[in-house]
Amino acid sequence: MANTSANTYHRPAWIEIDLQQLATNFDLINCDKADALDLLAMVKDQAYGHGAYRCAEIALEKGVKMLGVVTLSEAVELRDKGITAPILLFGEHLEDQFAFCLAHKLTIFINHPQQAQLYAQHARKFDTVPDVHIEVDSGMGRYGVRWTEAVGTIVEILGTPGIRVKGIMTHFARSDELDKSYANEQLQRFQTVLTALEEKGITFPLVHTCNSGGLLDLPRAHFDMVRIGILPLGVYPSQVCRRIEGIRPIMSVKAKIVALQHLQPGDKVGYGMRYTASSPRIIGVIPLGYGDGYPRVRNTGYVLLHGKRAPIVGGNAMDAMMVDVTDIPQTQIGDELVLLGKMGNETISVHDLAHLKGTVSYEVLTNWSWRLPRVYLRGKLGRV
Ligand SMILES: Cc1ncc(COP(=O)(O)O)c(C=O)c1O
Repeated sequence: MANTSANTYHRPAWIEIDLQQLATNFDLINCDKADALDLLAMVKDQAYGHGAYRCAEIALEKGVKMLGVVTLSEAVELRDKGITAPILLFGEHLEDQFAFCLAHKLTIFINHPQQAQLYAQHARKFDTVPDVHIEVDSGMGRYGVRWTEAVGTIVEILGTPGIRVKGIMTHFARSDELDKSYANEQLQRFQTVLTALEEKGITFPLVHTCNSGGLLDLPRAHFDMVRIGILPLGVYPSQVCRRIEGIRPIMSVKAKIVALQHLQPGDKVGYGMRYTASSPRIIGVIPLGYGDGYPRVRNTGYVLLHGKRAPIVGGNAMDAMMVDVTDIPQTQIGDELVLLGKMGNETISVHDLAHLKGTVSYEVLTNWSWRLPRVYLRGKLGRV
């Protein structure tokens, strides 16, 4: 089960989430942005593996106006835990999901006139006029009404009685790269749609386009609200986007050494015999593997132990990985180590693990399995 600290320490491998730093990150973002700019906290996929409810609580405490998720069960988990703030359900939703969305007071996207009519019909049964948003596809090629057809379609949607269009948005494909030409083109397309609608007297209470990359680097595109997922978690969407001083990661992955093996020259380590000891070596065994979301690497990468780097040897297994601790002779069974985060002067960042895995930081964060217990920390209060 996701998101409970009840099973903490049932295994000597866990994830720590620093809620105090999450709060600080929101404070720093609030100081950085214009006062009138609202925030939506994107807490889909358990707030990128951090735990949606715990992160949402802090986000709301820090003035976030809306929460964003993608699946109905993500939204219902938040509602069941008592969150009454507006929840925007991203993506496209099918008719068989409409009653559920209405029952849980979720705000969905309506991008086609026919969908608008169906949603309004369902809403009548609930005796409500629900808020909806419209997504304009300005070049992402994913959800929404294509910018070239948006004006006519939106006018039709607006003509549907029984729904209230509260917001309009688009989504950037390349907001966090140095080359902003495509983001600017998308913005131009979206702006053209807004202007054409404005000429017809149509405006929207809430216009939103930016993710974290856009918040940092596309001030012209902020409009009324920005939708941020990765930045409050202390991770930048890319290596090249603007920095906000003081923002730091809130996730650390830790484990304990559970066994030590004393190898003789010629001995092997792990599946596929990928490592052969060339001299007597001491190998520390860590009870966490690719099944927990650690990259399935062979003889690459390291963990932090006693403030030093212990290199990974052999191929990582589903539930275990091995590190060479020969040069850290004080190592004992039960010693704590860091797989992601800081120890002493050393740090292993999400970007380091993404590099190891040949992927992006988003995938590293969301790929940690929920069989790794999450331990929530809040300042001096310690665990919560
Ligand atoms: C539509 C939309 N808006 C905002 C975000 C948040 O992006 P980020 O985590 O880069 O802030 C996402 C995430 O994928 C998204 O799909």
